[in-house]
Amino acid sequence: MKLSTIARTRYTTKAFDPERRVPQETIDDLLTMLRHSPSSVNSQPWHFVVAGTPEGKARVAKGLHGGFAYNERKALDASHVIVLCARTGIPDAHLENILEQEERDGRFPLPDAKAGQRKGRLGYVNLHRYDQKDLQHWMEKQTYLALGTLLFGAATLGVDATPMEGFDFRLLDEELGLREKGFTSVVLVALGYRSDKDFNAKLPKSRLPAQTVLSFI
Ligand SMILES: Cc1cc2nc3c(=O)[nH]c(=O)nc-3n(C[C@H](O)[C@H](O)[C@H](O)COP(=O)(O)O)c2cc1C
Repeated sequence: MKLSTIARTRYTTKAFDPERRVPQETIDDLLTMLRHSPSSVNSQPWHFVVAGTPEGKARVAKGLHGGFAYNERKALDASHVIVLCARTGIPDAHLENILEQEERDGRFPLPDAKAGQRKGRLGYVNLHRYDQKDLQHWMEKQTYLALGTLLFGAATLGVDATPMEGFDFRLLDEELGLREKGFTSVVLVALGYRSDKDFNAKLPKSRLPAQTVLSFI
């Protein structure tokens, strides 16, 4: 299928069929995509909590009350809900972890490559930590790349999805014990298959025209 066809036909699902589950093989494929999402200096400042059981989804739905109740059924009726989390800091141990993994994966064939990578990555982290003072925002930007990867991957595999920023971050962080582990929730993605009652499936896609958002130089 052409990429433009997928882009035009994927949409934000507003009602899922609670009876249908996404096959495990498809979920595994999507999780592999998530894990391989690109991030600045390969910083991977994220963690993904996968709720694939009624109990797990009910825990996520604890963050979907009050003003966010409009999203509750999406989480409960979806097959799976993924909580995309960002780190709340970048400790040295995380940077060393990445470096050691890169070494095991064979990324440093030349003698100075490892030290160069350590210095280069720390330079970017410190740029955001001290100079631009936007380390949290920078990590969340990386996490949103993973969101885009997941949404397009799901559409490619014929899985319907709902990205959700409409939830109570504090309640969900507490429920999942995220902050004590050095993470905070950023965005949710419900995955599953649309219900035939989903009004949004029948509405046409709407985007600003190409001449408004594209320039060619
Ligand atoms: C980061 C992000 C957060 C969103 N949050 C919600 C949400 O909480 N609930 C919801 O129903 N839709 C949510 N949406 C869906 C958007 O409204 C939707 O993507 C947009 O209107 C474009 O429509 P389409 O996805 O059907 O192409 C969100 C989308 C994104 C990308």
